[in-house]
Amino acid sequence: TQKDLDEILTFTIALARKAGELILEGSKAILASHDVSEKKNAVDLVTEYDVRVEELVRGEIEKAYPSFAFIGEESYAAGKRPELTDAPTFCVDPIDGTTNFVHGFPHACISLGLLYKREPTIGVVFNPFLNQLYSAMKGHGAYVNELTRLPANPPAPFPSLQTALIGMEWGSDRSASTMGKKTRTFTRIAGDPAHDIPEGKMAHGFRSLGSAALNYCAVAAGQLDMYWEIGCWPWDVAAGIVIAREAGGEVFGDKESSVQGKVFTDDMLWGRKYIVIRGVADSPQEKSSEAQK
Ligand code: IPD
Repeated sequence: TQKDLDEILTFTIALARKAGELILEGSKAILASHDVSEKKNAVDLVTEYDVRVEELVRGEIEKAYPSFAFIGEESYAAGKRPELTDAPTFCVDPIDGTTNFVHGFPHACISLGLLYKREPTIGVVFNPFLNQLYSAMKGHGAYVNELTRLPANPPAPFPSLQTALIGMEWGSDRSASTMGKKTRTFTRIAGDPAHDIPEGKMAHGFRSLGSAALNYCAVAAGQLDMYWEIGCWPWDVAAGIVIAREAGGEVFGDKESSVQGKVFTDDMLWGRKYIVIRGVADSPQEKSSEAQK
């Protein structure tokens, strides 16, 4: 029911803030100890705090909502890989932006997404370093720090791709095929003369925040025009998808069909490729705020 969802959102926001305290404590400890481990390769990092934050969050969710399923980055890495079902499922990245976290670059967050019937329904992303909390519930808008509805400014018409500010990430998949796709895309949009892009038609710029979830939030806030990445995992995007959509944005996954139905199908969940585009003036978000007046 709506009351249940409201309660879950309140619970999730409080949980994100509690996790944020542990992330800040962890940041001090890791910057002092440099105790960092590698997962799949030398750029896929993990610390004891990724695991500790996930344990804290999983424990609190199990206490409050024992029937809910749980998919978490670190549990998944440890081999706990539950099937995605229609049951309410928390999809959690305890520290999204672990590389930033270990370098003290203040763009790391906890990302808590709730899927219901496989669709992202509640999303909370909290960056404790900047005290920025993004939250959204399907059909009820996206907010920063619970007060300011996103996008905070009226969305401008979408610029051409060549004049946009675009979020992109190298990610931790540095395999030859992925790197080839990324470097070709980056150089082409940056204005590679080999592709005859007329002067003045290249993208205004690229930004890499180092956290997929925070890139989604930047698109929701209208700070980035779009975000493109190959290599994301469900826990990187489950919360961001709700936040971006509720701010009027569009999320495109691997398969066209999963986009049209707006359902977070298994294809989309594990598709690994995402394009997120910010809202424009006649976006659904604008219409729903009109309807609320
Ligand atoms: C990663 C970050 C990074 C993105 C990767 C993610 P992690 O998550 O969001 O910016 O490029 O695709 O996997 O490892 O920091 O939780």
